[in-house]
Amino acid sequence: MVSREIVRGIYWTGAIDFDRRLFDELIPLPNGTSYNSYLISGSEKTALIDTVDPTKEYELLSNIVKLNVDRIDYVVINHAEQDHSGSLPMILEFFPDAVVVTNEKCKDLLIALHHLPANQFRIIKDKETLSLGDRTLEFFMTPWTHWPETQITYLREDKILFTCDLFGSHMASSELYVTNEAEIYRSAKRYYAEIMMPFRNSIKGYVEMVKALPLVMIAPSHGPIYKRPQLILDAYTDWVSDTVKNEVVIAYVSMHGSTQKMVEHLIDALIARGITVKPFNLTRTDTGELALSLVDTATVIIATPTVLFGPHPQVVYATYLANMLKPKFRFASVIGSYGWGGKAVETIQKMLDHVKVEVIEPVMVKGLPDETTFQALNRLADEILKKHKEINIV
Ligand code: FEO
Repeated sequence: MVSREIVRGIYWTGAIDFDRRLFDELIPLPNGTSYNSYLISGSEKTALIDTVDPTKEYELLSNIVKLNVDRIDYVVINHAEQDHSGSLPMILEFFPDAVVVTNEKCKDLLIALHHLPANQFRIIKDKETLSLGDRTLEFFMTPWTHWPETQITYLREDKILFTCDLFGSHMASSELYVTNEAEIYRSAKRYYAEIMMPFRNSIKGYVEMVKALPLVMIAPSHGPIYKRPQLILDAYTDWVSDTVKNEVVIAYVSMHGSTQKMVEHLIDALIARGITVKPFNLTRTDTGELALSLVDTATVIIATPTVLFGPHPQVVYATYLANMLKPKFRFASVIGSYGWGGKAVETIQKMLDHVKVEVIEPVMVKGLPDETTFQALNRLADEILKKHKEINIV
């Protein structure tokens, strides 16, 4: 991949990973991803903003070398995770006089992760600036825009904000800028669900802070650059808000068809009541799609058969994940079938300790569901509609 000039003297020098299909050995990447790195030439100093995943370090170096850059004065590291800092040791090997510019927490992590010398760092604080001559970098501390050490960097004169993980998307594209807004909106929403949603309350404040900055571009370190920052700022404003939609996500597994019959009945009952339903069969679900659906749903139903004495392990995994991601859904319930008993409902309810939800009466049946079960599911659908009306989303 070749470097590209964004505006005079500012270059994209990152790497595009078209082939990557899994991030953190956890997050599916149907569209690959990119690791954006940016080189900024000032009249006196040159700075590199973030590096790339270590698997792509030679692409980064090649992009820099091809620009005939013989000196890097500063390497700004906005976030210590290895997909952005993993090529730092190699960059420092080639540019041994470069100073790593970051905050104290990030420095500690970078030393732990890469065994770098402590004297090669310059520590910056919130709102501190760094002059490159005719250009000025300003740093804003934004802890928990993934990790506790995260920060963002603003290039004042050019009004470009380098946000690292924040506002990113896992999208490998040869396009440097967002061209298809609908496609990037969806990709960024999925990324938000997987990476940012647990930190929704912190991010609310950062979005407002960013909105107050004069902005020409937002340049994240994953996915294309926003030449219309309002696109991603409006999207985040919506996602981090407390507003939920008239939707029900049903995450389910069925082993012998009983839970499946209950899920099918509930889907019809909810549709009949004007509620959008998003069912996910967990044995074949892309967990990224499930996470995406959790961004603004009002209600989650977990449907499970009983394996030995508890819920199906796929249900346990999905519940654990949903609890970790801390979506803003307001109501939850459990439905399913059992053979000789078990503690499926109790186990699932205990696992949802990170989300503040009101639990609606579960519907569990011994063996095959019958007319009594379907009536109970109708009552569950009625109750969900009532709850949605109470919070004015119907
Ligand atoms: Fe893209 Fe948290 O790293």
